[in-house]
Amino acid sequence: MLDLIIRNANLADGCTGVDIAVENGLISDVAPALDARAHREIDAGGRLVSPPFVDSHFHLDSTLTYGQPRVNESGTLLEGIELWGELKPNLTAENIKARALELCHWAIARGTLAIRSHVDVSDDRLLAVEALLELREEIKPYIDLQLVAFPQDGYLRCPGSAANLEKALDLGVDVVGGIPHFERSMADGSASIKTLCELAAERGLRVDMHCDESDDPQSRHIEMLTFQTQRLGLQDRVTGSHLTSMHSMDNYYVSKLIPLMAEAHMHVVANPLINITLQGRHDTYPKRRGMTRVKELMEAGINVAFGQDALMDPWYSFGSQDMLEVAHMGLHLAQMTGQAQMRQMFEAVTGNAAKVMGLEGYGLEPGCRADMVILQAKDPHDALRLKSARLHVIRRGKVIAETPPVISRLALEDQTIEVDFHFSV
Ligand code: FE2
Repeated sequence: MLDLIIRNANLADGCTGVDIAVENGLISDVAPALDARAHREIDAGGRLVSPPFVDSHFHLDSTLTYGQPRVNESGTLLEGIELWGELKPNLTAENIKARALELCHWAIARGTLAIRSHVDVSDDRLLAVEALLELREEIKPYIDLQLVAFPQDGYLRCPGSAANLEKALDLGVDVVGGIPHFERSMADGSASIKTLCELAAERGLRVDMHCDESDDPQSRHIEMLTFQTQRLGLQDRVTGSHLTSMHSMDNYYVSKLIPLMAEAHMHVVANPLINITLQGRHDTYPKRRGMTRVKELMEAGINVAFGQDALMDPWYSFGSQDMLEVAHMGLHLAQMTGQAQMRQMFEAVTGNAAKVMGLEGYGLEPGCRADMVILQAKDPHDALRLKSARLHVIRRGKVIAETPPVISRLALEDQTIEVDFHFSV
């Protein structure tokens, strides 16, 4: 007797009418009309069943601090960094952990079961590192949490950052971060990339840098990150986050840069909600969108994912950890509205994001971990359009969150009508 069978599922790749069998926390079979019995059977009824959503770029230490000590009125990245600086001295490890845990509960409800969170190491007390390392262990049964040592105030610009970053790695933080565009000069930005990539190579770690999160078409930190990736043999282990400068770069230069990024097997994470909010703030009109060149990067075979990045914090006053909302904004900004493109946008918050994190056993093939989401949608198009309810969220074969289907009931004069925003033609 199996632990769980999901009947009549649609998959994101277009397969329909599939059964998914689960045994000992792993997917044991995926095929139509499986002749098997299980302790629990869920009829997906032709709805979309997907591997869980993955948020490959987030900041758990600053989340859910909206309004503390004040709101970011200009909405700019720099006022956000200033505000975070004002907030930091009042933080405690308990407070950081409690907020991060609440956010993880929101994530589970939204079917997001893996998060890569940058953690600020500019503060000598390393309170956020302490809090999030504890949370990483405690939340492990439900969420794969990966932490990035992030020198928010600059690796070279802030005197304590270099020592703090190494200390954070010694304590068990998983990934080496950076913020080259925030260093004092282009030369310092380049030097920080070189040192941080060497550190990652020595320790056998992955790299994920906030890189060129600016509207500056002349910024060249992506090129340097690509170069160091190639030089140190870090292919497939390096992620460039944001890369918003690429939106503003000269097309000729980009025609050189993208093939170099492909050659270095670099991963890219765009953060559409944040990019459209924070970039282009110095523009009048036309006003730049500020997201990196998602379509062209994907066409070059580069793995591109989307992240939430910020949520109710000094940088962003919205969000509910809904990766479908993130992908919805991403597809609008990238103008990727074709059928195949929509599937790519869905992948950007599922499979592609899992590749950024290097998650093992992710997917819906036999042998993968039985982590899944059943959506109130028939396909990725529906899911993106409606940001559909996550009816069942499954972790290692157990249902860990449920949401009732969203249905409105209209009481009209002579009839009652149910509306769920799906249609058949
Ligand atoms: Fe970020």
